[in-house]
Amino acid sequence: MSSTEMNSSKTLLSLSHVSRHFDNGPEKLQILDDVNLDITKGETVAIIGPSGSGKSTLLYLMGLLDRPSVGSVTFDGQSLEKATDRQRSKLRNADFGFIYQFHHLLPEFTAFENVLMPALIGGKSNKESKARAIELLDKVGLSHRHDHYPAELSGGEQQRVAVARALLNQPKLLLADEPTGNLDAASADKVFDLFTEMVKESDAAVIVVTHNPELAAKCDKIYRIESGKLFKAEKVAKKASKKAAKKAPAKKAPAKKTATKKTTKKAKA
Ligand SMILES: Nc1ncnc2c1ncn2[C@@H]1O[C@H](COP(=O)(O)OP(=O)(O)O)[C@@H](O)[C@H]1O
Ligand SMILES: [Mg+2]
Repeated sequence: MSSTEMNSSKTLLSLSHVSRHFDNGPEKLQILDDVNLDITKGETVAIIGPSGSGKSTLLYLMGLLDRPSVGSVTFDGQSLEKATDRQRSKLRNADFGFIYQFHHLLPEFTAFENVLMPALIGGKSNKESKARAIELLDKVGLSHRHDHYPAELSGGEQQRVAVARALLNQPKLLLADEPTGNLDAASADKVFDLFTEMVKESDAAVIVVTHNPELAAKCDKIYRIESGKLFKAEKVAKKASKKAAKKAPAKKAPAKKTATKKTTKKAKA
């Protein structure tokens, strides 16, 4: 393993000329076509694009759950082309956190046990990891739900348990695939802010696939997938104006803000 000093680069994950196709009988389905992307430590990145455009496929590649047809993936200075499946899953368990649209909590385990699951799976369930699970449950505002089973929690609460679980091993990279797709606007906002802020605290990076432009706009960068290609998307001015508004609440004109769906959506929460 390279020491932090050796790997002084701020690049955490790098995709170089990555393509992915699937064979569909004689037909070749080209899903990703020559994708190049560098993810820097500490940054939050949103991936957007129409349904079926390859967002999940890209996330699987970045999460070492799949291998590119062409091209290479480098994580924390380590090229993964020649890594065995075993080495990849070890790395995944140690350094990656995953959040999905559906929480995938295990129904027969309590909130606490679900959060502890990555440590149980990694054979590292000890005093320390248990203390961290308790702390994380507290951070996501669910310490009072410690012994509750998933079925006894609301959708937003279940997803907050999933966030705590994804962060148990202090991942260097958090990958989230439409993590708020199943939540109402208020819960979506809360869950999104929770994991982006918690990850930022540890200088980890976040890659989040989302259909929600307001959440995407909160990220440092936005990329769009279209016809297999990855493009850097322009960020809407919204974030900047929001920040400015916070700094100088008296002066910044809300007049500049373009009308958004937020107000109507918020009403539902
Ligand atoms: N294992 C697979 N075999 C064949 N086609 C696949 C496979 N995985 C994904 N696809 C196809 O790739 C395209 C992109 O899928 P996906 O990455 O899930 O899209 P998104 O997440 O953007 O909605 C879809 O047309 C899907 O059917
Ligand atoms: Mg998808």
